[in-house]
Amino acid sequence: MTERRAHGPDDPHPVLTRRRFLGLGAGGAAATAGAVAAVRLGAGPASVAVTPASRAVAVTEAARDTTGRTVRASLRAAPSRIDLGAGQVVDTWAYHGQVPGPEIRLTRGDTLEVALQNDLAEQTAVHWHGLAIRNDMDGVPGVTAPSVAAGGGFAYRFVVPDSGTYWYHSHSGLQLDRGLYGPLLVDEPGEPVSADVDVTLMLDDWLDGTGRTPDEVLEDLRRRGMAMSGMSGTMGTAAASGAGPLPSALGADTGDVDYPTYLINGRSNNDPRTVRVAPSQRVRLRLVNAGADTAFRFAVGGHRLTVTHADGFPVVPVDCDTLLVGMGERYDAILTARDGAFPMVSYAEGKGGTALAVLRSASGAAPSAGALPTELSGRLLSYTDLTPREGTALTGRTPDTVLVARLGMGASGYQWLINGRPYDRHQPLDVVAGQRVRLDLRNETMMFHPMHLHGHTFALLAPTGPGTRKDTVIVPPMRTVSVELDSDNPGQWLLHCHNAYHQAGGMETVLSYRT
Ligand code: C2O
Ligand code: CU
Repeated sequence: MTERRAHGPDDPHPVLTRRRFLGLGAGGAAATAGAVAAVRLGAGPASVAVTPASRAVAVTEAARDTTGRTVRASLRAAPSRIDLGAGQVVDTWAYHGQVPGPEIRLTRGDTLEVALQNDLAEQTAVHWHGLAIRNDMDGVPGVTAPSVAAGGGFAYRFVVPDSGTYWYHSHSGLQLDRGLYGPLLVDEPGEPVSADVDVTLMLDDWLDGTGRTPDEVLEDLRRRGMAMSGMSGTMGTAAASGAGPLPSALGADTGDVDYPTYLINGRSNNDPRTVRVAPSQRVRLRLVNAGADTAFRFAVGGHRLTVTHADGFPVVPVDCDTLLVGMGERYDAILTARDGAFPMVSYAEGKGGTALAVLRSASGAAPSAGALPTELSGRLLSYTDLTPREGTALTGRTPDTVLVARLGMGASGYQWLINGRPYDRHQPLDVVAGQRVRLDLRNETMMFHPMHLHGHTFALLAPTGPGTRKDTVIVPPMRTVSVELDSDNPGQWLLHCHNAYHQAGGMETVLSYRT
């Protein structure tokens, strides 16, 4: 095991300096990569960052399994007027004038080519959440790519390495808390069809166009310090006290923002979407939490759920009544439809609001807007119920390096930190390609943080070794979650809290491949 190399506290921007240096001499650096690697042993400061443009990235790309097929899509980000149902119309920003944005669907090994047109009045970038793609297409302004200027465009092009339920969203500022997100589904070639109906449900917390923008909310949070931002100047209401009809599984403080509306597939519970099925059909639900500050507890009235995938990767099927989906997390679950009309409810954990969709296999009264099926307080899925399906587990291996990310809070103001620093003074977590890396996520705050790593699907560390594969994991208040990963996708990769406000408040760092 090697020690994590730390940059000196007297040298706040060493990586930037080295990146600039590398940019000037990229060709030479690639040619002498072997020599640099040899020098690195026992000489940390001589190492250089693997940039998105490095040869190591191209080499990894050349080795990918591809079908040779290219799937093309286009995304136009623009101000849009969206109907949330029951006459609630909001002005927001969306892809193709719809929330969620258009579904992108392809097969593992296909090349995805997306033409982004930015018709917003500010810069933007698209991130392909959960996919371990090439570093230079990851869509993180300032880390892997320049942002796309207002009026400009960009052609994303990458091979899709894994099947499962993924999503895309803007990775600029708080644009995710507007309507800039959509589903990205990847089929497994030759996978036997296991469901009659395949439905994606994107869960969201919504405030844009209802009086304040996400940017104004952040300003408000900065003014208040750590007090919660309510909608009408009221603070410390529902979320701050862990209110709501159900006990919170995430502690008393589950959010910083009190949302007026929650959505499933762009609809509030006053005018829900209906999924029509035939009785006894098997329905595959793909749940995606696209919210910015809300974990959702999901259940379907009158039905049990069999969870088959977590964050895109297959698990040994396991039954539950309800499951908690953190921001950025996804679950696939199968149910067998009963005869009737049933509420599919996402409940804002610790906050108390709900969004609704209807599962209908027969005529009959629709569920009421505020329906709270008893399944919501039934058997709750936990991470320890999840076992990777054969062939998807990481093999047991002693870690070559252990990285620690302490999740903290600033002493004053609205500041969220990793290892004592906000993102603008971050200290990268260094790895070298070919390592087994253990990452300890240590939550030293009273709020949960759904931590997301770009470019990798890590394994949750179980007592028996590496367990379920995920790319986003809820770290409960004052707890440590350990994950393991293989450093097999060279580049610079963001590690951050998927609470968009915590992220904007600084809770981000970079997993930095070095040679
Ligand atoms: Cu879903 Cu860094 O993102
Ligand atoms: Cu957080």
